[in-house]
Amino acid sequence: MKDLTGLEITVHNQTTLDLYNTVIADLCRFKNPVPITIAMLEAEPDFVMGQVFNGHINLWTTDRDDLQWSLDSLQRIARIDSSGLNTREKMHVAALQTWAAGDLAKAAIQLDEILIEYPLDILALLSGHQLDFFLGDAANLRGRVYRVLPAWDKEHPLYGYLLGMLSFGQEEAGHYEQAEMSAREAVERNPQDVWGIHAVAHALEMQNKYEQGARFMQTYQQHWQNDNVMVSHNAIHHGLFLLETGELNKAIAVYDNLVHWADIDPIPMALVDASSVLWRLYLEDEALGNRAQTLTDSWKQKSDQLFYSFNDAHAIIAFAANNDAQAAQTLIAELTDYVASGDPSVTNHGMSLHTGLPVCEAIFAFSQGDYNTTIEKLMPIKNTTAQFGGSHAQRDIFARTLLEAALRAGNKNLALALVNERLMARPHSPYNQKKWQQALAIH
Ligand SMILES: [Fe+2]
Repeated sequence: MKDLTGLEITVHNQTTLDLYNTVIADLCRFKNPVPITIAMLEAEPDFVMGQVFNGHINLWTTDRDDLQWSLDSLQRIARIDSSGLNTREKMHVAALQTWAAGDLAKAAIQLDEILIEYPLDILALLSGHQLDFFLGDAANLRGRVYRVLPAWDKEHPLYGYLLGMLSFGQEEAGHYEQAEMSAREAVERNPQDVWGIHAVAHALEMQNKYEQGARFMQTYQQHWQNDNVMVSHNAIHHGLFLLETGELNKAIAVYDNLVHWADIDPIPMALVDASSVLWRLYLEDEALGNRAQTLTDSWKQKSDQLFYSFNDAHAIIAFAANNDAQAAQTLIAELTDYVASGDPSVTNHGMSLHTGLPVCEAIFAFSQGDYNTTIEKLMPIKNTTAQFGGSHAQRDIFARTLLEAALRAGNKNLALALVNERLMARPHSPYNQKKWQQALAIH
């Protein structure tokens, strides 16, 4: 049989294939794929690409609690006679084994190898794109999509989703105008393309188009706020525009309604979004109410994972903002042990060693008023924090922490130097203008 892009796929009944095609299309727009995946695997447990799909979605979450689902799929695959599988399917099984073992960098390459032979392999593209994001690999976020794009028919129903991915890669690689064009075409083709909407937001953010960005997110809210797993993330992009345009109360309302609240299911990717907004407010001495406590309660259910260092850095943000020194110190001690004794073949180990641990130490030091330690920890890695993933917009909180530490330490030269760098990139940012004035006022 053939899947929705015309690739040969080993499957035994049409119903299973229909479910696979549906759930792949759902994943393109970040609709929760779990219910259909369960139905698909109940219909045909020995469907190898279905098990591979299940393996992928349970690694996308960056949640150690989901890893077992991926390992279960690999175990099931191991019991299936593989002699009937085609080359592409065997390559997929090998890539999933690598990814589930924690070697994200190698898994990203293996998915690229699949795409070079099979550029229409949408699962390899979607997951490769996520891995490039987790790895902070801006060049490949763009290059991976560029390499396959000419092989696709522009009329294919999924083609627009490739433009959303391309846009995010173009934006992360610094090509903001191209990124805006690609993303706008993606969203025109599929208004419910929440990754494409998100790419428009990134492109506008990097071009200082804050009012336009706030309006765009408002206009598209009907599309991004329902029936997908990226609601909190698009919400924080909306919130970032509102913060830049000075609409603090609206930004907080977005946080309260769409990002985080008490007893929310603690999904790490959504908790990262919450920490990202809250830390920006904390750095500006805005009143947080009980939000830091609520977020701390959520993160405590996930903070001992040592699974994806970017998450650790956002967990400690909640603890620091909540003045929970004990939780912060416990996480730092666990991370310190992990980097000393962990497995270097696991990508997260290097991320934690080079970026995650110093960032966590810097954040905690900041919360203790030890601004010089924050500077000491962040200065050497200020240009390399992409190593533990995320986007420019997400990682800006670490740059802001360094700048704020310089201001509070009274280090005028460093504060001015850091502000100068920001102003060159984004001269019209109200935040940058405010920090420039604060730096100039240091005696
Ligand atoms: Fe984003």
